[in-house]
Amino acid sequence: MLSEKLHAAINEQINAELWSAYLYLAMSMDAESKGYKGVANWFYVQWLEEQDHAHILMNYLNSRDCKVTLKPIAEVRTEWSSVLEMYEETLRHEKVVTSLINNLAAIAAEDKDFASSNMLVWFINEQVEEEESARDMIFAVEAVEGNKYGMYQLDKELASRVYTQASPLATSEE
Ligand code: FEO
Repeated sequence: MLSEKLHAAINEQINAELWSAYLYLAMSMDAESKGYKGVANWFYVQWLEEQDHAHILMNYLNSRDCKVTLKPIAEVRTEWSSVLEMYEETLRHEKVVTSLINNLAAIAAEDKDFASSNMLVWFINEQVEEEESARDMIFAVEAVEGNKYGMYQLDKELASRVYTQASPLATSEE
């Protein structure tokens, strides 16, 4: 069993991951409505990945005999003034998620809950990638700012992003 504090915090994190999924789905739909099919695809993959993150945490609580309690998912913003603004918000949001994951790792360390600490290592590494990919996208969009053909090419490139299931799920039976 986990400590009550860690159990509650992981339940909160499941909600935060689902909220992130919903945020990126909203960005995908906004991009789609503005004709950026590649950007829409990029955020659609992100929506799938965030659901994986929630799924990993749900599997973990279940495996530790801790009940998953689902809470309402708060409303998300649905309109952005530009693609750049979407990626800027993505980076800001991922930094917040990093601090939430760090907080979970701190509680697990405090509890000397080594299994939880071990499970969280995947998320700590994932957050490094999440922040880096948002930053890379900001640089890419800034590089073509004001250049319609450049944005068209970038959008085409982003259409090729493919979803791959997160590794902890690929090896789990659930
Ligand atoms: Fe679940 Fe984008 O971190």
